[in-house]
Amino acid sequence: MNPFLEIAIETAREAGGILLQEFDRPVKISYKGEVDIVTQADRRSEEAVVTRLRTHFPTHAIVAEEGGGSETDSPFRWHVDPLDGTTNFAHGYPCFAVSIGLEEAGELVAGVIYQPVSGEMFTAARGEGAYRNGKKIQVSSIDKLSTSLLVTGFPSVKRTQNPNIHYYWDFTLRSHGVRRDGSAALDLASVACGRFEGFWEFGLYSWDTAAGVLLVREAGGLVTRFDGQPYQLGDRELLATNGHVHAEMRNVAADIAERAATQASL
Ligand code: IPD
Ligand code: CA
Ligand code: CA
Repeated sequence: MNPFLEIAIETAREAGGILLQEFDRPVKISYKGEVDIVTQADRRSEEAVVTRLRTHFPTHAIVAEEGGGSETDSPFRWHVDPLDGTTNFAHGYPCFAVSIGLEEAGELVAGVIYQPVSGEMFTAARGEGAYRNGKKIQVSSIDKLSTSLLVTGFPSVKRTQNPNIHYYWDFTLRSHGVRRDGSAALDLASVACGRFEGFWEFGLYSWDTAAGVLLVREAGGLVTRFDGQPYQLGDRELLATNGHVHAEMRNVAADIAERAATQASL
């Protein structure tokens, strides 16, 4: 197995174990913003991930959500979300994950998303396909928006400035429905294994997306910005689909954006 992936898997498993221990205890919430939550679980999981990655790859850079990472001049950079789905976690809703992605000079090379409650381990390495618990996965073959199940998310900062409510409304009326599961990493993993045909969100960070974007691409899907350019780490908007409904979703999004702009100018 790819040596980076092997370490990422054992790291995610350790972090997931910490999340499960913490999930059984009363959660003590601190606030980073108005509704932007952080818990002891986020911090403990991040410390475990960063420590293990540093032990194995001391020269690599690490970008981690809670600030425990550090830059180096290595072309390798790990993008770590120690707990994706903190709001779910804090409310006892068992939908959250550890997400660890590795970039080499701008290219995604390995990614792991681990959901410790269900025990699902999603893994991908560049050019080697995407897997769930060791079994190959692929995106769904549904090719019409009208029969698609979609998923999206809303940020916990600058909520009023986010345009997504318009998209949520429109896509809901044009599809089988739009879920809002509260973990961008799991949303992407679910597109990769064919549960959802499409996922979009505005305002994501590289730690939310690095592993999941590689999973979707390796499972045969497409990940771009709404303008159709390939999604790159650092882009703040993302459209990930099974490929078959991509053009239709982009066209609908263009109409929504145009309507929202017209309304704003009235
Ligand atoms: C959040 C989740 C959520 C998404 C937010 C993210 P966090 O990550 O992925 O689904 O809608 O934009 O910030 O804060 O739980 O790591
Ligand atoms: Ca996140
Ligand atoms: Ca997080």
